[in-house]
Amino acid sequence: MKKKPILYGVIVGLVVVIALVGIYVFGPKKETATETGGGVLVVGCDAAFPPFEYLDEETGELLGFDLDLMRAIGAELGMEVVIKNVSWDGIIPGLLSGNYDVIASGMTITDERKEVVNFSDPYINAGLVIVTRAGDDRIKGPEDLVGKRLAVQINSTGDLTATEMMEQGIVFASIKRFNHATDPFLELRNGNADAVIMDLPVAGAQMKANPGQYQIVGEAFTTEEYGLALRKSDTELLAQINQALATLKANGTYDEIYRKYFGE
Ligand code: ARG
Repeated sequence: MKKKPILYGVIVGLVVVIALVGIYVFGPKKETATETGGGVLVVGCDAAFPPFEYLDEETGELLGFDLDLMRAIGAELGMEVVIKNVSWDGIIPGLLSGNYDVIASGMTITDERKEVVNFSDPYINAGLVIVTRAGDDRIKGPEDLVGKRLAVQINSTGDLTATEMMEQGIVFASIKRFNHATDPFLELRNGNADAVIMDLPVAGAQMKANPGQYQIVGEAFTTEEYGLALRKSDTELLAQINQALATLKANGTYDEIYRKYFGE
C-alpha cells in the first residue's frame, strides 16, 4: 500500500515526459530565422514577376533571379531557405506579421517603404519604362500619356509614379491597377489599355516571351534599386544578409546568377 504513491508519481512523471516529447516532435514549428544563423530563412515573394520570381508551370518550381540569389545567401549563411509565394499587395504586412523573414520580390527601395521595413544593400538596378502595343506610335514619352488608358500593378512603383503624375496634372483617360505584374500586359495586348508602366527588366522579359506584341518607349524614366526587405527589429539578420551579399558579389556567384537571367 505504501508503495502506491511512488508508483503513481512515476506514472504521472512518465506521462508528462511523453507528452512533452510529443509536443516537441509533433507540435507546431515556427519557421523563422534565428538571429544567430543556422535554421530556416523564410522568404516571401510574389512569383508573377519574371525574370525575378516566377512559377515554372511544368515543374511547379519557384524560379528567378531573386530566388537564386536568396538560395545562395541561405547557403552562405548555412540556413535552409523556404520560399512562400504571396500576393504583392499584402507582402509588407505579411513580413511585419512574421509570415516570412525576408521579402525578395523585385522590391524597389523607397523612402516610404523605409519607414516600415529595413532594406538590404541594393542588389540590382532597374527603372520604369512605358510599354505600348507594337506598332502603336502615339506615345513617345511620359507626357504623351495624357488621355491614354493606363495599366499598372497595384502598389508598385509604376502605380505610385502614375499617381504622382496625376497629382502633377497629367490626366489619364483611365488607370487600371492589377494584382499581378503580368496582367497589365494582357490588358495592353487585348487592346483594353494603351500603355503599361513597368520595371524595365520585367518589360524586357515580357517582350521576349511574346514576340511582336509589345514595344518599349524610349529609355527608363526613373532610376530604382531593388533591396531585400526585413523587419526593422531583425538587425542582426540584416547584417548577415548584407555580408553574404557582399561575399556573393566578390566570389562571382552573383555574376553567375546575373548571367543566367540576363545574359552577358
Ligand atoms: N519594383 C516595383 C516595386 O517595388 C515592382 C515590384 C513588383 N514585384 C513583384 N514581385 N510583383 O514596386
